[in-house]
Amino acid sequence: MTLLSKRSIVKEDKSNIITLGAIAAEEKKKDPTVVNATIGMLYNEEGSLLTYKSVDKALFELTKEEKYAYASTPGSSAFHDAIKKWVFRNYYKEFKNISEVMATPGGTGALSNCFANYLDEGECALLPSYMWGNYKQILYENGETFETYTLFDEKGSFNLANLKEKMLEIKIRQKRVLFVINDPCHNPTGYTMTEDEWKGVIDIMNELSNDGTPIILVHDMAYIDYAKQGFDYTRKNMELYKKLNDSAMVIMAFSGSKTLALYGVRIGAQVCISKNKENLLDFARANKFSSRSKWSNTTNLGINIITKIFSDEDLKKSFEDELKFAKFLLSKRADAFLLGAKNAGLKTIPFDCGFFITIPCQSPERVYQALVQKKIHVIPMGNVIRVTISAISLNDCERLPKIIKDVIDDIDRK
Ligand SMILES: Cc1ncc(COP(=O)(O)O)c(C=O)c1O
Repeated sequence: MTLLSKRSIVKEDKSNIITLGAIAAEEKKKDPTVVNATIGMLYNEEGSLLTYKSVDKALFELTKEEKYAYASTPGSSAFHDAIKKWVFRNYYKEFKNISEVMATPGGTGALSNCFANYLDEGECALLPSYMWGNYKQILYENGETFETYTLFDEKGSFNLANLKEKMLEIKIRQKRVLFVINDPCHNPTGYTMTEDEWKGVIDIMNELSNDGTPIILVHDMAYIDYAKQGFDYTRKNMELYKKLNDSAMVIMAFSGSKTLALYGVRIGAQVCISKNKENLLDFARANKFSSRSKWSNTTNLGINIITKIFSDEDLKKSFEDELKFAKFLLSKRADAFLLGAKNAGLKTIPFDCGFFITIPCQSPERVYQALVQKKIHVIPMGNVIRVTISAISLNDCERLPKIIKDVIDDIDRK
């Protein structure tokens, strides 16, 4: 017998990232030679969390009230402006009056609010076939379901045709479409969309919404500031958002965990863009209600660190320099892993940049177990294993591909 409600009986955290991450961390505590390539955080070459001095500086300058007092539910207007400046960068002036911001606990809070307010209970969201598994749990928590679009076509490019087909099916059935794109540095593959692929997405959104059907894109930009192409490239698609019809809207999910390495502070934001004032007012009203009912308000600490860094030009500049170094470190690790994979004949899913590299295999669970025997911890998911290159050293990035290839071959032979 269980005391849980019917809807909660099946609740079990299916994302093994946290569980397997905890096992790996425990093993590494006992034996420092263990390789922990599980959890999506950035580590330096010495094996400790990579944090930013400019973030620390902003933190130490905060007053008692700025750290510990309650924040307002949506976050202060100074926070909203700071987020807009950072997210829009060169497009700030164009977008500041056609956008709205809501403070949330991480990108997770932003996603939770988006799913809560742009779908009704029982409705379905459209997710990429390779994805961060927590999307599914957030939807379940909201009483919603999901379907997937195939992320890649046979050439390894973003599969616009399949996205459109699935969006059309859902539009006919549900009379509204909410879909998720995680770009750049997609988790788990590391794929980054091209300009033309983004143009294609906007064209589909306009075509499907021109009869007034609500078409909502949740743009999960968790890893935006780690794209090797840099700020200008990653903000370019935002220019396209201005071309959307009034019934089509983009809500971006910003993660302070990733951009500023503020993982445990739990700060992020929803950033919505619409030329229609009513859409912006609706967004602010409904998302404030949801935030108040779920977490009341997020951390003042996170809100004020971000406000300080993104609105003080000197601090912002030193933060950008530190970020540049972090990106350099990541791209060196990626290059080393990909070269190792090429030399070993290990296949990877299309990768461009980011925290993870994904390897297709027939028995991910068995590969995971065999690698644990070799003191290497990765994440098995669906038909792949995910290696978190952000959390391991350059040296490990060089040597892991051959070990993984041998393990996969060995298992496939049995
Ligand atoms: C793709 C993606 N989106 C969103 C998040 C949410 O992160 P947070 O809530 O810590 O900002 C993560 C975290 O790993 C992620 O990988």
